[in-house]
Amino acid sequence: MARIVAVANQKGGVGKTTTSVNLSASIALQGQSVLLIDLDPQGNATSGVGIDPRSLQSTVYTCLIKQANAGDVVQSTDIKGLSVIPSNADLAGAEIELVSLDGREHYLRDTIQGIQTQYDVIILDCPPALGVLTINALAAAQSVLIPVQCEYYALEGLTRLIGSIERVKESINPNLTIEGIVLTMFDARNSLARQVSEQVRGHFGDKVYQSVIPRNVTLAEAPSYGRPGILYNMASSGSQAYLSLAKEFIAHGEKSAR
Ligand SMILES: Nc1ncnc2c1ncn2[C@@H]1O[C@H](COP(=O)(O)OP(=O)(O)O)[C@@H](O)[C@H]1O
Ligand SMILES: [Mg+2]
Repeated sequence: MARIVAVANQKGGVGKTTTSVNLSASIALQGQSVLLIDLDPQGNATSGVGIDPRSLQSTVYTCLIKQANAGDVVQSTDIKGLSVIPSNADLAGAEIELVSLDGREHYLRDTIQGIQTQYDVIILDCPPALGVLTINALAAAQSVLIPVQCEYYALEGLTRLIGSIERVKESINPNLTIEGIVLTMFDARNSLARQVSEQVRGHFGDKVYQSVIPRNVTLAEAPSYGRPGILYNMASSGSQAYLSLAKEFIAHGEKSAR
């Protein structure tokens, strides 16, 4: 049975997609089979693994709304062990269409059900909102991985997100846990970033990964080549940070399984 992890934060631009793509690729590189599901109509995770969102007939939208079989929509990528269920602008319609449906929180869970034994890890890249798509991800996941950018309102945003996670736990997914918090786009020369990082660690203790993702040009450039950072420049500090995060992620999974 796969570990199903939602990468979520209602704030845009904090590194959800960069983390989803690079963590997925880094876990695959360690020999596990990974399915990345793009849940953002912007399709950035899709293009980030080299698939043109505009060219697609079958996407996560067709699974959620048109009852397509998830197994038929999965695509392979250039990274051995990494597959993707892509997304494109069609998914924007799902936000609206799902709202009027009974059991609307559970469409993604039902979509994944038939394929979850085929993977070690399933990563859900959420859109920057706490709308019905993110709720579907939180309902389908066992845990939430939260990327946090160390800037002024980070802690407020984090508190709000954790409140939403608590509500989802109470109403639809009692076993949901926090997988971990990862500090992204970190710049050690910036004193505010250092301060926020200390606050987050002070509040959330060992829920915060030791691995910190630096602000790094490889991670910013790689998407324009349709490749995860580790394929574009493995030696870069950004790629190395995601490899290190993947090791922590895998070690945590092994510990929980014991
Ligand atoms: N560690 C990093 N270093 C440099 N640029 C980054 C880093 N992480 C993300 N970015 C860039 O910041 C922007 C927002 O990141 P993204 O992962 O798309 O955020 P989100 O999915 O939360 O909206 C993108 O242009 C991305 O390439
Ligand atoms: Mg994104």
